[in-house]
Amino acid sequence: MTLLDAARAVREMAYAPYSRFKVGAAVRGASGRIYSGCNVENVAYPEGTCAEAGAIAAMVAAGETELVEVCVIGSSPTPTPPCGGCRQKLAEFGRTDTPVLLATTDGKTLATTIGELLPGRFGLDHMADRP
Ligand code: THU
Repeated sequence: MTLLDAARAVREMAYAPYSRFKVGAAVRGASGRIYSGCNVENVAYPEGTCAEAGAIAAMVAAGETELVEVCVIGSSPTPTPPCGGCRQKLAEFGRTDTPVLLATTDGKTLATTIGELLPGRFGLDHMADRP
């Protein structure tokens, strides 16, 4: 199964009764294993979680902390990008050159990288002078 197939499949499982916008995300860990996640909304809107967060949580729960490839898919007119918070979450476990494939349900794709999605990210180096 490709990363795109995994993201497309998990998107079907999204719980999105409020936005009615289903998102699927899949990440490949350094082991080669694929982890997937979907958005899970809540009636208390800010408590909802993004698809990327679910995929990352599945990867970490399986004992992996390095992702080497990412895919996000939604039914948007142009390939669905990760939100700002998810860009930071992806950056935690990936590298600036980690490939990210954005996709639409009608077959459009856009290839990018974590670094292109989050230039100037906040990193550990910014906390260099902490005690
Ligand atoms: N959403 C994601 O799952 N990932 C993103 O990066 C963008 C937004 C979800 C959150 C919410 O359930 C719905 O899409 C509409 O914002």
